Amino acid sequence: MAVSDQFQRPLRDLRISVTDRCNFRCRYCMPAEVFGPDYQYLPREDILDYEEITRLAKIFLSLGVRKLRLTGGEPLLRRDLHTLIGQLAALDGLEDLALTTNGTALAKQAQALKLAGLDRITVSLDALNPEIFAQMNGINASPEKVLEGIAAAQEVGLTVKVNAVVQRGVNETELLPLARYAADKGLIVRFIEYMDTGAAHGWNLEKVLPSKDLLELFKKHFELEALPQNHPGETAVRHRIAGTSAELGFISSVTQPFCTACNRARLTADGHLFTCLFAPNGHDIKTVLRQGGSDDELADRIGEIWGMRSDRYSEIRSHATPAQARPEMSYLGG
Ligand code: GTP
Ligand code: 5AD
Ligand code: SF4
Ligand code: SF4
Repeated sequence: MAVSDQFQRPLRDLRISVTDRCNFRCRYCMPAEVFGPDYQYLPREDILDYEEITRLAKIFLSLGVRKLRLTGGEPLLRRDLHTLIGQLAALDGLEDLALTTNGTALAKQAQALKLAGLDRITVSLDALNPEIFAQMNGINASPEKVLEGIAAAQEVGLTVKVNAVVQRGVNETELLPLARYAADKGLIVRFIEYMDTGAAHGWNLEKVLPSKDLLELFKKHFELEALPQNHPGETAVRHRIAGTSAELGFISSVTQPFCTACNRARLTADGHLFTCLFAPNGHDIKTVLRQGGSDDELADRIGEIWGMRSDRYSEIRSHATPAQARPEMSYLGG
């Protein structure tokens, strides 16, 4: 039975984080000084196995979910992820199965992921310039591997999007080159305003470059055609580069929030359900699951949580809100 929240928003989209670990240390997500050798990741026994994830996904589908996206940390670090993809792809009622990755292990896995039934993949890439990319990913990784991953994903027939987090004074010089790369490869590139997620990375408004400024810049270099929304609640506002299949998208949670139609739930690797990227706490579903809860009991619990939902963090963001407690993005899955 489909459920809706306090603002009549349905539950359509489930983002499942499969691990809170990552091989990158992006400064805006897992800065190395916080996520060092002593950082306490989730204990192995708390992490849902593939059967548990698949069972929960099926229950979410019975409540109206149509789209699943696997996230992390870095989801391709999870062993044999294609096995989980295969299990999820077989679920009745699923319309869209996607994955967000940093792309470093993608060249190796693209084929297996596609064969298992993955529809779409989103690869994070904040810069083409090696120095700027190395500085942003925090481990001196070069963009080569990621570019290879993107090419491999395109080759095996996955629909590919590229995500670039935009930080004023950090990768401003990279934005035009990334747009040209999109035009050249017929890719969709989305530019994401730097958000105040978690507590680890010292966000401030001065580092946010509003999407409208970026759009003005791009309009000087490309002929852009505004595109309609793919579906209600979509994160990105999209423009096609005229005469190509390439798209430039803008995800503007800070300057143009999109909470009004937000239909996304997030399930963490340890089975907690979050009703907003900025919610201070999650709801423990794993305990109900592991204590022998039936499918109906689990569906009731999830439906009840969604029914009480009134989150709209980005619309009420103010100077005060960044100080509020909230989980790290690497745990919540972005
Ligand atoms: P599509 O299914 O291709 O539209 O992808 P998506 O934009 O839903 O997912 P993706 O993982 O690519 O996320 C892109 C950016 O949007 C990331 O920075 C996410 O953290 C952010 N994002 C996704 N959903 C939400 C949301 O509900 N609220 C906010 N504030 N940001 C979100
Ligand atoms: N602000 C905006 N986007 C972020 N991401 C990670 N941290 C932040 C942040 N602070 C992005 C990643 C990835 C997506 C899931 O979220 O780069 O593309
Ligand atoms: Fe890892 Fe993605 Fe966070 Fe970067 S943004 S540290 S790639 S989880
Ligand atoms: Fe949805 Fe919360 Fe993001 Fe608003 S801030 S769009 S309610 S996840």
